[in-house]
Amino acid sequence: PASDARAREVRVPTVIAHRGASAYAPENTLAAIDKAAELGFSWVENDVQRTKDGQLVVLHDDSLQRTTDVEEVFPGRAPWKVWDFTAAEIARLDAGRWFSPAYAGARVPTLEQYMRRVEHNHEKLLLEIKNPELYPGIEQQTLKLLGNEGWLDHRHLGRLIVQSFSADSVRTVHELKPAVTTAFLGAPTVAQLHRFARFTDLVNPSYRSLSHRYVTAVHAFDGPHGRPLGMFAWTVDDAPTAREAAGYGVDGLISNRPDVVRAALGSH
Ligand code: G3P
Ligand code: CA
Repeated sequence: PASDARAREVRVPTVIAHRGASAYAPENTLAAIDKAAELGFSWVENDVQRTKDGQLVVLHDDSLQRTTDVEEVFPGRAPWKVWDFTAAEIARLDAGRWFSPAYAGARVPTLEQYMRRVEHNHEKLLLEIKNPELYPGIEQQTLKLLGNEGWLDHRHLGRLIVQSFSADSVRTVHELKPAVTTAFLGAPTVAQLHRFARFTDLVNPSYRSLSHRYVTAVHAFDGPHGRPLGMFAWTVDDAPTAREAAGYGVDGLISNRPDVVRAALGSH
């Protein structure tokens, strides 16, 4: 029976470079995905938000303050929210110097620039729609850009997963483009899984939510494409946690230090 096959399956988790290889290069920059490629990782994760003039950019925080020199360049504009700046203004910011002088000159990439570099590097992308409740229509806009860049062509769909902490956003992505693989960020209850499994292919929880029982419970559901739900856990940066999570049977580990996880598991 299917349940026996599931129980017998040995899973070697995929390792996903979180915000790129973000322990070694400034998060969510092109340098961070170049670093992931250089280390031999094909999957990278990012965060997508929208500027004042409606452009999609790759940035994790609501504010530009932590990861750019926005305070120096635009001193009067606290709290420096990404949606209060145009794409042209954001393009002037340095997104590397805060991390290391070696990365001075790195920029906050537009999603278009980012997708082109992912393509150039032959990478695969776990794209997070960040704060979707602040950006009405961002799901459609993101899918349109991905389509324009060729990422929704049949042969490329296996290289893309779209995820969000918002179940509504994940459902919207699934309804707009059912062929796209989706992931819900969080640890839904079994009752919630009955609903979420109609529109999400993966459930991606914090490693703190993991147990053998929970991973098994998630895998027992079939997703919208008729395959068992997958699970990528975040953010795992040390060998003991990586081994523990792998032991529970997760399918992927999202890490700022993907090389540490690979060394711990002997996987890639
Ligand atoms: O991909 C999972 C992880 O990125 C979710 O948390 O805050 O790093 O976006 P956060
Ligand atoms: Ca993220």
